[in-house]
Amino acid sequence: MTRWYAERKRDYYYKEAKKQGYRARSAFKLIQIQERYRIFRKGDIVIDLGASPGGWSQVAVKYASLVIAVDLQPMKPLENVVFIKGDITKDETVEEIRKHTEYADVVISDASPNITGNYSLDQARSIWLCYNALKIAKEFLKEGGNFVCKAFEGEDYPEFLKEVRKNFRMVKAHSPKASRKQSSEIYVIAKGFKGENK
Ligand SMILES: C[S@@+](CC[C@H](N)C(=O)[O-])C[C@H]1O[C@@H](n2cnc3c(N)ncnc32)[C@H](O)[C@@H]1O
Repeated sequence: MTRWYAERKRDYYYKEAKKQGYRARSAFKLIQIQERYRIFRKGDIVIDLGASPGGWSQVAVKYASLVIAVDLQPMKPLENVVFIKGDITKDETVEEIRKHTEYADVVISDASPNITGNYSLDQARSIWLCYNALKIAKEFLKEGGNFVCKAFEGEDYPEFLKEVRKNFRMVKAHSPKASRKQSSEIYVIAKGFKGENK
């Protein structure tokens, strides 16, 4: 994709997000994932990791009865969304989530590390966040539940994908149209939690 085209596309999703009242362009990535993979159902309980500023929560809450959103950064309130300011890699954050729900139907993670520009380091940090999101998914998901996780592709990614496959019946890697440029960003879509840890 040319830079010109990538910029036009970014601009398009930016304008659409403004027009449709979404807090972030990334909302369209989740909309496209939902259209294709049907990860949410009416009345679901959803845990949204790396949720700020709230674009994904805005999409999830259209289906969910409750969204529990977690981020290191603050997030402006949304109806039917409980926000927890915390680090998804810390046990105390998991305990905080547990105060609001004992289980979830869907766990989604768009968490990203701060980009250093050192790709090997950035992808390793991204996969570390992915493992923590998977840990939370395994702790909270009902059998048959769904998991979506953003990952930076790189040397640690195949091993993570293997780990996801162990726990879910259907696993796909998806590059949403609304992603920026031809980035190494990929979304792991996992459906049908096997529930072996329960
Ligand atoms: C791309 S943004 C998420 C955008 C969001 N999905 C939306 O639609 O508005 C990534 C987020 O991950 C968060 N994050 C990174 N590391 C985290 C961690 N250890 N715990 C919680 N959140 C984290 C960042 O603070 C940032 O807000």
